[in-house]
Amino acid sequence: MAVLRFASLFVSFLALHSVNAGPSAAADPCAKIAGKNFVPPADALACEKSFPFNETLRQNVLTTVSRVFDFYTFEDYYLKSPPPFQESTIDIRAALRKLNTTKYQTDYDFNKDLFDFTNQLNDGHTRWLPDCIGFFQNILPTPIVSLEVKGVQGIYVAPDAVEFISLLGTEYTGFFDSINFNWKRLAGAQVLAIEGQDPYDYVDFIAKTVSGNYLDHGVRVNSVLSSYRIASGDYSQRLGDLAGPSGVQRTSLTFQLVPLDTGKAETVTVPYLAAFLGNAFTDKDSFWANNCAATPITNGIDRRTQSSFVPPKRLQPKASIIDKAHSVNIVLPNPFRPNLTEVAGSDDVLKNYILPDKKTGVMFVGSFGPLDFDQFQADVVAAIDAFKKAGVTRLLIDLSNNGGGFVCLGQFLFQYLAGSKIGYPGFVSSLRGNTLAQKIIAADIKLGIDAFEGFYPADNWAFLNGTQMPSSFDYADPVVPFTINGVNDPTSQRFHDTCELAFSQTVPQDPPFDPSNIAIVSNGNCASTCAMFSTLMNERLATKIAVFGGRPGQNIEFKGMAGNQVLEWADLDSEIKTAGLKDDPLAPPDLLVSANFRHNWRTAWSFFDENKPIAYVSELPRFRFAYTTDTYNNPQNLWLFAVSQMLK
Ligand SMILES: *[C@@H]1O[C@H](CO)[C@@H](O)[C@H](O)[C@H]1NC(C)=O
Ligand SMILES: *[C@@H]1O[C@H](CO)[C@@H](O)[C@H](O)[C@H]1NC(C)=O
Ligand SMILES: *[C@@H]1O[C@H](CO)[C@@H](O)[C@H](O)[C@H]1NC(C)=O
Ligand SMILES: *[C@@H]1O[C@H](CO)[C@@H](O)[C@H](O)[C@H]1NC(C)=O
Repeated sequence: MAVLRFASLFVSFLALHSVNAGPSAAADPCAKIAGKNFVPPADALACEKSFPFNETLRQNVLTTVSRVFDFYTFEDYYLKSPPPFQESTIDIRAALRKLNTTKYQTDYDFNKDLFDFTNQLNDGHTRWLPDCIGFFQNILPTPIVSLEVKGVQGIYVAPDAVEFISLLGTEYTGFFDSINFNWKRLAGAQVLAIEGQDPYDYVDFIAKTVSGNYLDHGVRVNSVLSSYRIASGDYSQRLGDLAGPSGVQRTSLTFQLVPLDTGKAETVTVPYLAAFLGNAFTDKDSFWANNCAATPITNGIDRRTQSSFVPPKRLQPKASIIDKAHSVNIVLPNPFRPNLTEVAGSDDVLKNYILPDKKTGVMFVGSFGPLDFDQFQADVVAAIDAFKKAGVTRLLIDLSNNGGGFVCLGQFLFQYLAGSKIGYPGFVSSLRGNTLAQKIIAADIKLGIDAFEGFYPADNWAFLNGTQMPSSFDYADPVVPFTINGVNDPTSQRFHDTCELAFSQTVPQDPPFDPSNIAIVSNGNCASTCAMFSTLMNERLATKIAVFGGRPGQNIEFKGMAGNQVLEWADLDSEIKTAGLKDDPLAPPDLLVSANFRHNWRTAWSFFDENKPIAYVSELPRFRFAYTTDTYNNPQNLWLFAVSQMLK
């Protein structure tokens, strides 16, 4: 059962590759690493840096990126990000100008600079993700966690590192054997310093420079550490951004630590070994062709030309992060997986249990991006029916590392728990009223495009009184004035989502549980749809929320990235092409490289202050707990502890 699963691309790589041992290997740094699943990071970097800088590609990429930024809801907030999110302050247009004038030696250097700039916006919805440099993940055999031991919190090498890292297989661990590096004896060691710094300071440094994805610094601190999650429908453990970052920047990390075997402080330099998760290649040319050049799905399509054999379906909005740093998926080692009997509706991203007290139901919602949109709703109903039938009166929801998914599944779960009497289950929303957005809406109306072919048409939305807008309604003419940080940044009219149209299960009128008997736990890494769901639970039901982990003495929000709907680059390009506007001078060109420039396309306005996006409203959890050796990788132990503290 304890098998390692890589991305499917990786599997095809194993199947397709034939070992290259040609004479060119010495001269061609990509040939040197061809056919290997794990490679020393310096060798991976040499291959990536073997492609010279190309001005044509820079102009193509920067033109697309800067025109996509025109649609980005939060652009002008970055000029001066409000507290406590000041760390994410940057003049986006000035940064783009610098990227356009900097002299680069290699294609890698340009892409890495652009990647880092968008990564440090700390918005997992808005990132440049170039496949060419994104297919390597560096892995350290000593993932770290923050634990409270005898009343004092500290950084430790994950005590389960041996069980956990061994699941990577002998190709990974064999490398360490071959250099006689005994990493196993470091499991559970207390860490006194990393790279000569206080370990929490070093964790802060990684949170600031590597983690990205979340506006809140405290949430990113937890991203640095190893933690449990549900991935690919199974219990899994993240390496964390220290032990498993995307890319191959570092070759090793120096720790001062106290191993359990000697009990004495020593300094150890631990090497990284990088996993390759991309497509098969044999040399430099095939590396570029198979991993860097644009593919048939890099750019969007004109949806009007789609096959009429496909039954028409309304498009479903998504809000999620792409957890690039965790492409390598390692299951949670066996002894730490819940051993309670699963209750009905446990399927894919949902795992449901009744605790031994027989009063508390647990629902681990690992993601709002299930394989099957309708099955998720059926599973929620099956679980809650089973809880009610068993006499359960209290509900604990675990949202640890929930990266979001379908906007309407977050609203469905909220509506089901709140009861339909509460009314509209979403946020008031709007999108940016830039010139091209206005042209798209007007063109869609002229062409008769509706919610089956695009996200811009008005029948995706409802007026604030709940009536669905007709597709012929122009909700960005006129635009609504809005000023942020002194910049005039008009929006569309405000509107509601129309998720009820996608609810395939009947929602009860009254809440199935007294809302004061519901509690939420997570590590704050609750992104996008998950952030919107937990914010609804907080703002509208005053649900008790706890966040585990973080740096002692430092705040941590319960919601990670709380934007709203995300458009991938191909999605936005499809909106433009479907509206017949690809030739417009404001339209971004097709990308020539295999990459994604996604962006946060809509705002969710807070119920607490309707002039503030929820992303910028600080909402701290009512409960804050440290992880212990019993709970950091053991969901069942964590739930029992949380219930004893939160649902007395
Ligand atoms: C730069 O990239 C373009 C587009 O892929 C390509 O046509 C051109 O040959 C490249 N230039 C050089 C000097 O390699
Ligand atoms: C980069 O700068 C050059 C020179 O000023 C300019 O012609 C070009 O349009 C700029 N590219 C982008 C994407 O802004
Ligand atoms: C079930 O898991 C819990 C928590 O990890 C553990 O304390 C308990 O001993 C396990 N029970 C059995 C029967 O394995
Ligand atoms: C809701 O508002 C719209 C726009 O103002 C209006 O056309 C519609 O009649 C209203 N619906 C109801 C049921 O009041």
